[in-house]
Amino acid sequence: MTMSFILVTALLLLKQSAANAKDDGLALKPPLGWRSWNLYVGNVHQYELVAIMNGLVNRTRKNWKGYPVSLCDLGYCDVGLDDTWQACKSPQAAPGMHYHDAEGNPLINYDRFPSMKNMTDHAKSLGLTAGWYSNNCACNDHCNFTTGECEMQIRQDSKALVDYGYSGLKIDGCGNEKNLTLWDKYLTEFSPKNPILVEHCDKNDPLLGQGCPTYHFYRTSVDIRNNYPSIMHNLGTVEPYRATNSSYPGCWAYADMLQIGVRQGLNIQETRSHFAGWAIVSSPLILSHDVNDDDVMDRIWDIIANDEILAVNQAYFGESGGVYDQANQTVLLESEGASAISLPEYQYLSKPIAKNKVAVLLMNSANETRTLTANFTNIPYADCSHDEHGSHCDFLVRDIWNHSSLGRFRDSWSIDVESHDAAFITLEKLGGMENSRLNENNKDSKGTRLGYRTQPAAVVA
Ligand SMILES: *[C@@H]1O[C@H](CO)[C@@H](O)[C@H](O)[C@H]1NC(C)=O
Ligand SMILES: *[C@@H]1O[C@H](CO)[C@@H](O)[C@H](O)[C@H]1NC(C)=O
Ligand SMILES: *[C@@H]1O[C@H](CO)[C@@H](O)[C@H](O)[C@H]1NC(C)=O
Ligand SMILES: *[C@@H]1O[C@H](CO)[C@@H](O)[C@H](O)[C@H]1NC(C)=O
Ligand SMILES: *[C@@H]1O[C@H](CO)[C@@H](O)[C@H](O)[C@H]1NC(C)=O
Ligand SMILES: *[C@@H]1O[C@H](CO)[C@@H](O)[C@H](O)[C@H]1NC(C)=O
Ligand SMILES: *[C@@H]1O[C@H](CO)[C@@H](O)[C@H](O)[C@H]1NC(C)=O
Ligand SMILES: *[C@@H]1O[C@H](CO)[C@@H](O)[C@H](O)[C@H]1NC(C)=O
Ligand SMILES: *[C@@H]1O[C@H](CO)[C@@H](O)[C@H](O)[C@H]1NC(C)=O
Repeated sequence: MTMSFILVTALLLLKQSAANAKDDGLALKPPLGWRSWNLYVGNVHQYELVAIMNGLVNRTRKNWKGYPVSLCDLGYCDVGLDDTWQACKSPQAAPGMHYHDAEGNPLINYDRFPSMKNMTDHAKSLGLTAGWYSNNCACNDHCNFTTGECEMQIRQDSKALVDYGYSGLKIDGCGNEKNLTLWDKYLTEFSPKNPILVEHCDKNDPLLGQGCPTYHFYRTSVDIRNNYPSIMHNLGTVEPYRATNSSYPGCWAYADMLQIGVRQGLNIQETRSHFAGWAIVSSPLILSHDVNDDDVMDRIWDIIANDEILAVNQAYFGESGGVYDQANQTVLLESEGASAISLPEYQYLSKPIAKNKVAVLLMNSANETRTLTANFTNIPYADCSHDEHGSHCDFLVRDIWNHSSLGRFRDSWSIDVESHDAAFITLEKLGGMENSRLNENNKDSKGTRLGYRTQPAAVVA
């Protein structure tokens, strides 16, 4: 019995959790989009969101094949507003409430958002969708469930969402309006024909990972910060849900918005690792940078517009993707204002993306360049048992960062990976020897350094 057979069998035994999703046709693939928090934090305005909407559609750039595409062409077509739209402490607020009146209606800050309906109409005119956000004013709207006050607010918020023309909702994990069953009831009541895409953002919900009867994706982590330890920490929070097969079409585990291209924080190696990590675990990919800033877009375009990596994220072949091997040796990663976290020096992740194809991500968290090895016999779904060369385990290896086929490799493939960087490949099993060269000697050849790793570790400004 081969190692991969044992691993696959173990995975199959683990993963008997019942499929449970809303089954309304939404989020059959991990959602792609943009959301405002990481860029604007608590200071976002309608005009800024309108500019982002324009930028998602009208800022086209060449993809690697030379054709101009926009971010929306690539799939990032959903624009989410994240908090601070409320008229906090409004004089119209009901006693004890911050942004709900006595009838349960949400109170809007019209200085920031003069006309939400205009904004969502603008989104629609561009072929985009718009998502709203619920809860907050620092989590202080403590409605009373016993009196029906909470149900009234959830009903009126749901009605407002539909009246304002939103088609998605992030329900944050604080305040008292956290009853997902009631949200689902009223969102469905007010929008029976067009289901609302719901993000359940409460990592402390004890029912997390037991299906998505009332939502489409769920946050597994604390809020992401703009540094490598934080992104690696958040990435790791998806793993337990992957291991119990709790992330699947219509019900995705989500490690929070991307910090790619957002102010200072990640160098280019870390930016690659961030995007690739989210992609291979099937996390929703929600951008949060200024799409109209050409300097930022110059730096990150080849990463976020990489259609082969997007394809890995969007593929589903029975398993959402995650860690199959890691170093025993750990490295302590420190970041300002946060406690240090301990991570394996390297982590290897995989995801099946077609019948004969597996994506593999080799991540180096060590403080220096390391030689990392994809050992084919250890990779789940990389099937070595039916090889036409008997005991040999041959795969076509493709570097999906730089879109180049590296040839056929036997048993393993190795590469030097810089600190905090990640090699991203696909392994493809083909019946014949066509289109490939047999690399009998690959155990001695580490592979050349990747072309894209020759740049200095520039910090994304
Ligand atoms: C994981 O769950 C999904 C959804 O129920 C199912 O389609 C898939 O076959 C499961 N995968 C495994 C390995 O059991
Ligand atoms: C494209 O987007 C920019 C930035 O928001 C905006 O200034 C410009 O008017 C838009 N152009 C079109 C044709 O929509
Ligand atoms: C909303 O759009 C309408 C029609 O384009 C326009 O007349 C109105 O001034 C807009 N209102 C706001 C507050 O933007
Ligand atoms: C909620 O309302 C019930 C019934 O009026 C009351 O007994 C209870 O104290 C209220 N809870 C809070 C937290 O105010
Ligand atoms: C949510 O509200 C429903 C309907 O009032 C109730 O049956 C259910 O127990 C509530 N769920 C939670 C988790 O409070
Ligand atoms: C990690 O430790 C386990 C258990 O001691 C051992 O079986 C395994 O070979 C070690 N892995 C590496 C890469 O050193
Ligand atoms: C990591 O490398 C940097 C730069 O070479 C160095 O300043 C730092 O002290 C190293 N950290 C650890 C934990 O070795
Ligand atoms: C791959 O893993 C197998 C089983 O764990 C081991 O026997 C073999 O030596 C490894 N090959 C390489 C190239 O590391
Ligand atoms: C892509 O990376 C491989 C190494 O993995 C290298 O051999 C090849 O030259 C690179 N191609 C380009 C176009 O950078």
